[in-house]
Amino acid sequence: MNQPVRAPRQPHIIVADTMPTRYARGWHVLDKASEFTTTPRMFEAFGRRLAAYRGDVDGKIHVLDAYCPHMGADMSKGTVQNDSLVCPFHAWRWGPDGVCNHIPYAKRIPDKAVIGSLPVLEENGLLFVWNDPEGNAPIESQRPSRMQDYFSGEWTDWTMTQVPIDSNCRELVDNMADMAHFGPVHYSKVKRFVNIQDGHRYIQEMEGGHEILEDGATGMTTTAIYEGPAYMTTTMTGSLYGRPVTVHLLVSHYPVHMDRFIINFGVMMKKDPELPEAVNQDMVGKYTEMSIASFIQDVEIWNNKVRVGNPVLCDGDGPINMVRKWYSQFYMDAADVPADLVKRKTHVTL
Ligand code: FES
Ligand SMILES: [Fe+2]
Repeated sequence: MNQPVRAPRQPHIIVADTMPTRYARGWHVLDKASEFTTTPRMFEAFGRRLAAYRGDVDGKIHVLDAYCPHMGADMSKGTVQNDSLVCPFHAWRWGPDGVCNHIPYAKRIPDKAVIGSLPVLEENGLLFVWNDPEGNAPIESQRPSRMQDYFSGEWTDWTMTQVPIDSNCRELVDNMADMAHFGPVHYSKVKRFVNIQDGHRYIQEMEGGHEILEDGATGMTTTAIYEGPAYMTTTMTGSLYGRPVTVHLLVSHYPVHMDRFIINFGVMMKKDPELPEAVNQDMVGKYTEMSIASFIQDVEIWNNKVRVGNPVLCDGDGPINMVRKWYSQFYMDAADVPADLVKRKTHVTL
């Protein structure tokens, strides 16, 4: 269909929006929980360098600021002893609460010897950290919901891929409302597209066909749910080698700094009991490959786009402004979040 074209008028000047001045409040996935051991790992996240390790006694994962305030060594290169992180430079020891509990050569530990620590949560096989610029404890009602399927034994474990993107992470969240990109970017035909905001949750329901992820016979339905600013899971039904498949996708991100973020892209698949374990594993591997191929199509766009704070939208676009408003709640003090941003609201685009 060709729309009537009107005579040219003044060009629309893109206003970029100012960059956020802080990182979103909420739970962010760093990696699969099974990837953490008593050997510390380094993460660049929220404009900080972090050291993450599993306690040798309590078996729990702890995340601390990596730079030692004594003389600046990177403690993600250190060791773990009695659940504490030992600095590789002068062996000061820091507990999971960030408080220095041992200096091998001092009579007294300085009062100032405290470093930052992040609240952590192991859930659904994933390691979450809570970021809060106000420094408050995690909001109980925003705890990521338990995925019973992960614990049922009937599903494969997550296959996990880390994808870095050179942009501010707010660009990713637009995607929830962006119905019009599914055709040109993913070659999928959308038949139904509904967005729901509800508190700290944002839900996208979609029905359509997908050239890569299904064979056209069964169609594809997806329900994508953001719980907080950064943790999104999708349940997807489709087909592979002519067999129906159900998968959970994880698209969770954490900001490295204002111009870069890492996506943790995970896939778990419901095993087909008629097939041997090796074939099920092969299927999830294949599906992961295909979904990454599909996902990479977005990445190419994100790596090269600019922020348009005042987008020129048309009547067929999804509710871009609604998702952006909803997302803004995570960038203001918890007490300042207006009721309008969290009240349940449904938008039917198609
Ligand atoms: S720099 Fe860490 S103990 Fe000295
Ligand atoms: Fe996309």
